[in-house]
Amino acid sequence: MNKQPDKSPDTVWHRATVTRQRREQKNTHKSVVLWFTGLSGSGKSTLAHAVEEQLHQNGLNTFVLDGDNVRHGLCSDLGFSDKDRKENIRRISETAKLLLEAGIITLTAFISPFKAERAAARSLMPHGDFIEIHCFCPLTVCEQRDVKGLYKRARLGEIKDFTGISSPYEEPDNPELRIDTSRLSLEESVQLVISILRARNILSV
Ligand code: ADX
Repeated sequence: MNKQPDKSPDTVWHRATVTRQRREQKNTHKSVVLWFTGLSGSGKSTLAHAVEEQLHQNGLNTFVLDGDNVRHGLCSDLGFSDKDRKENIRRISETAKLLLEAGIITLTAFISPFKAERAAARSLMPHGDFIEIHCFCPLTVCEQRDVKGLYKRARLGEIKDFTGISSPYEEPDNPELRIDTSRLSLEESVQLVISILRARNILSV
């Protein structure tokens, strides 16, 4: 991720007295970023929301940042060129960092196709607070699912720069978790995510 030129050099960081640690104590759980990445139609949003549902039912504080939704507001000025995708992920990374500080278990569901931007997102968070989850699903399966009808339109040339068709997706080399959503059920996938949260003592239940 290219570091933006600092347009506000004359600002001074204000140190909060209500810290992340105090928020976590109040919440009685730690915060973390669960970063779901994968092709359109690979199941990122479905899985992120299903995990959130389970965590919420267990009384934890959660929030999902979802690509399609965020592009209606915070990122509504961005398209799908490489440059815009990089800016999209930069904004989401910073937003996820704020939510992490706010003590919230933050789930992000973005294609986030480039390794460099995912690495930059990781480097913004304290070590161990960024869990990369690759929703792996073969392109052919995503295309068969074509839930939103976008692959068909991309093949017809109606949508340009479409991930997997006319824009690249760089698979993660070492994600904390790789879930083959073409083989596992949603419930099995949710349990894999929950297991990693238990293993890291974020969940005790
Ligand atoms: S990202 O590449 O910048 O991370 P993001 O996750 O925000 O993408 O948005 C992807 C969603 O936008 C897809 O799920 C799909 O519904 C929609 N979309 C529209 N145009 C495109 C495109 N050219 N490439 C990929 N997804 C697109």
